[in-house]
Amino acid sequence: MAGSLLTPAASGNVWVVGVLGSETGMRMSFRLILSLVLTVTLISVIFAFYQVRTYTLGRQSDLEKRAQVLAESLQETVEPLWTQGARGSLRRLVERFGNRERLDGVAIYDAQGRPDLVTPNLATRLGLEPPQLNRRVFEGVGWSHFFGSGRNAAHLYAVPIHVGGTIVGALAVFHDASYIEEQNTQLWRDTFAHVLMQMLLIGAITVVVVRWSVERPIARMTQWLHDLRAGAMDSPTELPTEQVLRPLAREATHLVTSLQVARASAEEEARLRETADSLWTRERLRVYQEAALEGSRLFVVSNREPLMHVQRGGSIEAVSPASGLVTAMEPVLRACAGTWIAHGAGNADRQTVDAEDRLGVPPDAPEYTLRRVWLTQLEEERYYDGFANEGLWPLCHIAHTRPIFRAEDWEAYQRVNAKFANALLEEMGDVEHPTVLVQDYHFALLPRLIKQSRPDARVTIFWHIPWPNPEAFGICPWQRELIEGLLGADLIGFHIQSHCNNFLETIDRALESRIEWERFAVTMGGHVTSVRPFPISVDFKENNAEPSNGYLSLRSERAAIAKGFDCHADYLGIGVDRLDYTKGIPERFRGIERFLEKHPSYQGRFTHVQIGAPSRTQIHRYQDLIADVEAEAERINQRFQTRHWKPIVLLKEHHNHDQIEPYYRMADLCLVTSLHDGMNLVAKEFVAARSDEEGVLILSLFAGASRELEDALIVNPYDTDQVADAIYYALEMSPKEKRERMRRMRRVVKHYNIYRWAANLIGAASEIRLDPVQRAQSAVAHSNASATVRPSA
Ligand code: F6P
Repeated sequence: MAGSLLTPAASGNVWVVGVLGSETGMRMSFRLILSLVLTVTLISVIFAFYQVRTYTLGRQSDLEKRAQVLAESLQETVEPLWTQGARGSLRRLVERFGNRERLDGVAIYDAQGRPDLVTPNLATRLGLEPPQLNRRVFEGVGWSHFFGSGRNAAHLYAVPIHVGGTIVGALAVFHDASYIEEQNTQLWRDTFAHVLMQMLLIGAITVVVVRWSVERPIARMTQWLHDLRAGAMDSPTELPTEQVLRPLAREATHLVTSLQVARASAEEEARLRETADSLWTRERLRVYQEAALEGSRLFVVSNREPLMHVQRGGSIEAVSPASGLVTAMEPVLRACAGTWIAHGAGNADRQTVDAEDRLGVPPDAPEYTLRRVWLTQLEEERYYDGFANEGLWPLCHIAHTRPIFRAEDWEAYQRVNAKFANALLEEMGDVEHPTVLVQDYHFALLPRLIKQSRPDARVTIFWHIPWPNPEAFGICPWQRELIEGLLGADLIGFHIQSHCNNFLETIDRALESRIEWERFAVTMGGHVTSVRPFPISVDFKENNAEPSNGYLSLRSERAAIAKGFDCHADYLGIGVDRLDYTKGIPERFRGIERFLEKHPSYQGRFTHVQIGAPSRTQIHRYQDLIADVEAEAERINQRFQTRHWKPIVLLKEHHNHDQIEPYYRMADLCLVTSLHDGMNLVAKEFVAARSDEEGVLILSLFAGASRELEDALIVNPYDTDQVADAIYYALEMSPKEKRERMRRMRRVVKHYNIYRWAANLIGAASEIRLDPVQRAQSAVAHSNASATVRPSA
């Protein structure tokens, strides 16, 4: 009971809750017991009633049968004696039947129905006068009749006496029937005894069950809620796990999580005010964007969805895809609500949306809306695999994979951009001055399509990959159309300044337009587009790691991870990438090989764990890359491995953030060796995870992140010896230097986190001044809101 768990000393409030809980519990138990007892009694009584009735009828029928047999056999004896006029024999016969068990006597009647010869004392034994015979007996019919009651209950059976074919009288046998009622009474008594026993048992069991499965769990939950409300973030009390209370426990968990988040945000805000620190938090972004957007709603468009539903076995699983874009945008959408429009790529996606193809995310406590757009298989092959990933991806990444441009892929790219534009226009409906954040190279044409239909929308596109130099971009047969599409935006964001420079230079070569280098803006057809760098980042949590028990403990935790792969190693490296040729994974492996060659003392002691999520596997180049990565790992392992150690552990599958986090926290070093990368969030995630200020980041010169994370060991991934030396330097680095480097990098990531990125982007978008023509067009735009965009637009 709640009251017995809590003492008044623990807390006045809880004590009251406990006492109230106890009284309520008692009332509840009493009501439950009463209703159970009444139900069981009613059922038992009905059952007993039918049992008694069936029993009575059975006994009566037995008695009737016995009486009939006896009467008919006496009839055969009496009739000849009557014919002979042997009254003496008849009298003896009648007297002889006067002392049998349960047979009270026999009577012989004359033709008028008057008793002639009767067993002596029959009336005394019956306890009443025998009734008159029914007339039908004298018409030749046997007559069965129960009469009297209680101890005088009796039965008679009468048959006619024939002489020479004429009915001259009747013979009746009388039985004692009181035993039937006595047995009935006994039956009722037994039934009541059973009911009473059942009532006591049910009552006792109910009290125990209610106490154990309802009152105790409720008391536990009350204590749990109280602890959390009182500020103990990890309540020592455990939440009830009983099936019946699980939904309640789930809801309470959500409630408490929201409470904790709100409290943490409030504390963080207060701390920031105290320290005049200008850190960005989720809460701050939420407040900021509300003010900055002045009631305008936020719409995000990307190809990759933040939550994918896939069929696994018989059930549907929600999966968060491996994507830097999703890692970055998800916290922003959670802070700003709004609508995210993306391709529904999961094989169970259609089963989890409503009639408008929408769902709330996260599904159990929605914070924003996901609108899924469906693509045909051919569209996916040509727009996503073809134009976006065989064309634009290698075009923008200088990683020496030749771009492939096919006319049919370009046609599909235009069609899919129009499809997304229509979905977006539909979602924006009559929302005034919407703010649109288009994501990435999949939607270069979207800004122009949207701006044409909704000039009142503030349109921004963020390009998550590098923008190459004009010569490299110039090989695209449709560079002009792509740039024109992009210039429909009011603002174009890249990760770093050099991508902005490359973009403006590309425009300079490809289009007739006015470029203002001093304010990084392009004017084309009267419309102004600003081009600015916004280095994307991650959600930095101050204390995201379990407090470590010190260096030695970390060392043994690392060893435990390696041992899990049947590989004993003292030092651990980590790499986390989509299996993409731009990530420089074979180059990384060769760097590790060279390191082991140069420093044999680390053979048997250093292992690199490579988490590689297969990606874009329909494309040949990616299939080749996977084979290449596997072969390189295998070759190097063959060269160095011993019975219980190998240099490379390749985990070729998607890992979610929670699964990756322990590797980040325990690794001695993290290797990011991209051949070309817009930003690379793995570098920032690693830094964000190291609240112990341990660990060294080895980072490619060609990743955008190297511009900010200057305290990483910056390497050229093509230079195998440099990578090898960086690994050696990282492992030999003094703890002091490690700490200093990591501390500085953490300051950068903490200061420029994903919320600041979003705030800068949203802030810049909200500053876009819609020119008077655009404003005037906004009224018309509303009436056109449902207009359909055609691919050729
Ligand atoms: O880097 C560009 C990008 O779109 C990222 O934003 C994302 O992490 C990655 O590519 C994912 O690619 P895809 O969506 O094709 O799996």
